[in-house]
Amino acid sequence: MPEGGFGYIAGGAGDEWTLRENRAAFERKQIMPRVLTGKGPVDLSSQILGISISSPVVICPMGGQGLAHATAEAGMAMGAAASNTIMALSTVSTLSMEQVATASSGPKWFQLYLQADDGVNRDLLRRAKAAGYRAIVLTVDSTATGNREADARNNFVFPLPFGNLVRKGTGGDIHALNAKFALNINPRSIEFVRNESGLPVIVKGISHPDDALLAINAGAAAIQVSNHGGRQLDGSPATFTVLPAIAKAVDRKVPIILDSGVRRGQDVFKALAFGADVVGLGRAAYYGLALGGWKGVRSVLELLNKELSMVMQLAGAQTVEDIKRTALV
Ligand SMILES: Cc1cc2nc3c(=O)[nH]c(=O)nc-3n(C[C@H](O)[C@H](O)[C@H](O)COP(=O)(O)O)c2cc1C
Repeated sequence: MPEGGFGYIAGGAGDEWTLRENRAAFERKQIMPRVLTGKGPVDLSSQILGISISSPVVICPMGGQGLAHATAEAGMAMGAAASNTIMALSTVSTLSMEQVATASSGPKWFQLYLQADDGVNRDLLRRAKAAGYRAIVLTVDSTATGNREADARNNFVFPLPFGNLVRKGTGGDIHALNAKFALNINPRSIEFVRNESGLPVIVKGISHPDDALLAINAGAAAIQVSNHGGRQLDGSPATFTVLPAIAKAVDRKVPIILDSGVRRGQDVFKALAFGADVVGLGRAAYYGLALGGWKGVRSVLELLNKELSMVMQLAGAQTVEDIKRTALV
């Protein structure tokens, strides 16, 4: 992968403190071994918003996957489907949402970067519904582009067009594209997306319990606790750190997805024990796609699930519900 593309994927915002902290926070909590419970074998099966999945892991929306592999988001969707899980497709994908829907019949969500032009929003939502996407992931943490210094150093310009947004003059320039994003996202935006799409809305990019409550009161079907993988507000806390307070505020009214920093089965276990229902996988899946197309994505998910099974067995948790009742130390 050329340096510019790799920097875009791997990098975070500013000093990358939040990028590192997303990992470090997981390391500050431990899983207590439980060895005489007599439990086993383990069962990873889960569900979210009415969709059954093989384990509590889904694929996050990530832009421009043609950077990683010639099959781009079609490969990601096929890898997710082969592992019986959900793939979220980004607004700024390389392939169009219709091309990805044709490539894989597995369950998919469409991620919306709300545009300043409501006509464009209506059009994107109508297309997503028509193409069979089963929920809208409304990303609310990107009203400004994070300060990605790797991109500046590499003079990174997207080498490929964005399949969903064919516009003159925005070609591969992510900043020109971001200039069209809505800046004033608020609870009415959630109502708008819900009414226009008729689909459940997952509000992604929440770090504060008050924002979680505002989202739920506006009709969110789920909350995605995320700091965009440390790519937006550097200096913001790890998602794992803010998770318990959000889970307390949400009080099981809607499911909670947690992403940012998930790399191992241990992380999945800890996130569920700390208040999440499902985790989202970002860069790990992108790297799997880069290394082996859909088989690479499947391999990353298999490895994560294998690790999670092992951790559950050694921690005395037989089911995903058992993990949620486990206290970390
Ligand atoms: C290369 C890349 C592109 C991304 N593009 C999007 C996007 O288009 N929309 C979005 O909501 N989030 C996007 N994200 C954020 C992910 O959805 C997710 O929150 C993040 O990757 C999770 O952190 P992790 O990479 O540490 O697992 C992107 C992340 C990466 C790494």
